Amino acid sequence: MLGSFRSNVAVGIAALVGIAGLSYVLAVKAEPPERQTALVEFTADGKLKQPVDYRKWVYVGEVITPNDMNGGEATFPEFHSVYMDPEGFAQYEKTGKFRDGTVLIKELSSVGAKEAASGMGYFQGEFTGLEAAIKDSKRFKDEPGSWAYFSFGHKYPLKAETSKNVASACNQCHQDSAKTDWVFSQYYPVLRAAAARSK
Ligand code: HEC
Repeated sequence: MLGSFRSNVAVGIAALVGIAGLSYVLAVKAEPPERQTALVEFTADGKLKQPVDYRKWVYVGEVITPNDMNGGEATFPEFHSVYMDPEGFAQYEKTGKFRDGTVLIKELSSVGAKEAASGMGYFQGEFTGLEAAIKDSKRFKDEPGSWAYFSFGHKYPLKAETSKNVASACNQCHQDSAKTDWVFSQYYPVLRAAAARSK
């Protein structure tokens, strides 16, 4: 009797220790400290490191400039999937403005199939490229609108880190043609809907 009580206690304690150990492991795994500090990271000489985790951000729109409608090679081939950092998006919903520190990512992917069960069309193929736009009035105070633009290339493997582009290469076209503060919100229905809620 006593023996089985003792062994039950032993099993109980073992289970508790096991559960405590497991929850500790989960807590550590769920929050890697290096991911909590910054949305994006820069090298000591100011290059942007290739962003991680952006596919978990807010997906604001999809544009396609297929090669076959652009003389065989689009400037940004072909699908452009645009993501915005979640805190920046939350602020945008409240104010209709891009907060200081906003990060927008444009991920490129190829056209794969042109026909599927749903009909003829352009169906996403493989990831091919990555661009970023960052608004930061301290770090990029000399850039028009405080927006800096980065490209990690249009072919895998992408660059691990990259310098910002000169304003004439990227910023200028955004300044001239984008609807809201250098951002092409006219093509992102999710941003238009969010801006409407801010009013
Ligand atoms: C000739 C005009 C033009 C130039 C030059 C240009 N872009 Fe854009 N960019 C656009 C348009 C239009 C969009 C809207 C969505 C799309 O087509 O991808 C866009 C969207 C973006 C986005 C998504 C966020 C936003 O602002 O709408 C990023 C990031 C971006 N471009 C990066 C770059 C980078 C990096 C360069 C320079 C290498 C660059 N762009 C040069 C026209 C341009």
